[in-house]
Amino acid sequence: MSKIIAVAIEKGGVGKTTTALNIGAGLHLLKKSVLLVDLDQQGHLSRWLGYQPDGKPTVSELIYQEVSGIRSNDDSLFIRHSDREDIDYIPANKMLGGIYAVLGNDGQSNTVLDRIFHRDFFSQYDYILFDCPTAVDNLLVSNALKCSDKLLLPVQAEKFAYDCIPQMLQRYMAIKQTQDVKPYLAGMLVTMYSRQTKMSNEVFAALQESYGSLVFSEPVPMLQEARNSTDDDNALCGSLVHRKSSRVGQAYLAAAKRIAGDKK
Ligand SMILES: Nc1ncnc2c1ncn2[C@@H]1O[C@H](COP(=O)(O)OP(=O)(O)OP(=O)(O)O)[C@@H](O)[C@H]1O
Ligand SMILES: [Mg+2]
Repeated sequence: MSKIIAVAIEKGGVGKTTTALNIGAGLHLLKKSVLLVDLDQQGHLSRWLGYQPDGKPTVSELIYQEVSGIRSNDDSLFIRHSDREDIDYIPANKMLGGIYAVLGNDGQSNTVLDRIFHRDFFSQYDYILFDCPTAVDNLLVSNALKCSDKLLLPVQAEKFAYDCIPQMLQRYMAIKQTQDVKPYLAGMLVTMYSRQTKMSNEVFAALQESYGSLVFSEPVPMLQEARNSTDDDNALCGSLVHRKSSRVGQAYLAAAKRIAGDKK
């Protein structure tokens, strides 16, 4: 059985995609088989993985086929392999913007991803990670939360990001129909942390006070190397976990180790 993790938080530009990529690459480095799923029509994750439009079906068609009931029996048609990261993925592109009307047509519109990713084919992966779009009330994100075993929250080290956590957890608890969210959390990973700034330290301390051990002990520093890694015109583009000299990469690798060690 795969463990399915949604990387999500209702705030944009906080490092969701960087986190999905580096945690996926970190788990791969730990010898786990990983499938990354791009659920954002911006397609940033796909681009970092080296995706070039190839005329083959993307995550949009995967969803469309499940809702329409007219589907190929071969889920491998949707899988690409990133040579750069040596990881399988399912790409997204701007067509995904039209998927909300499709999802809305399903009798159980919250369970479409749940039905897809619990098919036998996907059980070959140890981990399936969803890179979610930023959204407040978004059917695709609800689907990802419903389907996932765990939620990984990248929390930018600034106050607005911290403030949006309670609402996000409430929503997740409603979807999971539970009063106790803890078993469903992979954790909160502080991103874009600057040791020198008061704001970063205050947010990290407040998070630890409110959420204790759910907070990863090693925050991801705010560094230019992370920006370079997401610039697909740059030769340094790609995950950072392989680079021993990368502080961002080592923080992500530490987080991946904790996730891999979580047996629940
Ligand atoms: N630790 C970091 N230090 C510096 N820059 C970072 C760090 N992590 C991410 N970034 C940069 O911040 C920007 C936003 O990151 P990313 O795309 O991962 O966020 P996101 O939450 O997925 O954004 P969106 O809401 O658009 O999906 C990118 O340019 C990325 O390179
Ligand atoms: Mg993103």
